[in-house]
Amino acid sequence: MKRVVMITLVVGLFLAVSAHHGLAGSQVPFPEGWEKWTPVKTPLAKIGALPGCDADVSNLPPIYQETVATYCGVKPGGPGKVEVLVNPGALKAYKARNGGFPEGPNMVLHLKDMKVLFVIGHRNGKALYGVFTEDGKDITAAQGPLSQTTCINCHTGYRAFCVKGQCGKIIE
Ligand code: HEC
Repeated sequence: MKRVVMITLVVGLFLAVSAHHGLAGSQVPFPEGWEKWTPVKTPLAKIGALPGCDADVSNLPPIYQETVATYCGVKPGGPGKVEVLVNPGALKAYKARNGGFPEGPNMVLHLKDMKVLFVIGHRNGKALYGVFTEDGKDITAAQGPLSQTTCINCHTGYRAFCVKGQCGKIIE
């Protein structure tokens, strides 16, 4: 009996600590109405898909190579079809590529074949990350490819490409 209480306490404590530190779970709310957001033509949107691990991506910039390396293994043949959607209220900021995003969810990388949304929003100008299924289930992981740490490392690690969380840009 004592042991059960002990385990319950330890598990409870762990959950409390995880929730507090945001180890798992999206930092940004689900992007309600994302289906009606504006598709933008970025380099990745133009390619149209994230390939599998055997694709030759050596001619792409390093950040795109790392993106393929990070996500090519999530499913045989790679994640597949993608599109980039921007909240109409954030379109001006997206075009300017200079931060200045409104509060709340602003950008979605839609993994169409996987029915998954990679979401970036902002709070007080700070970029926040999350992963959801199309119908709103928060699947942001504590670690690995679907964790905020992974998002943040790449989205802040390539200065020439990413500004305030935004890595894509409209190419025409
Ligand atoms: C290894 C690098 C890398 C990782 C990891 C990564 N991304 Fe990205 N992400 C990119 C690049 C590069 C683009 C721009 C591609 C384009 O549109 O041409 C991008 C685009 C996006 C966009 C579209 C808006 C934009 O232009 O930036 C969203 C939203 C997004 N990522 C969310 C996420 C989330 C959420 C995670 C973590 C679960 C994540 N990303 C992990 C590299 C990465």
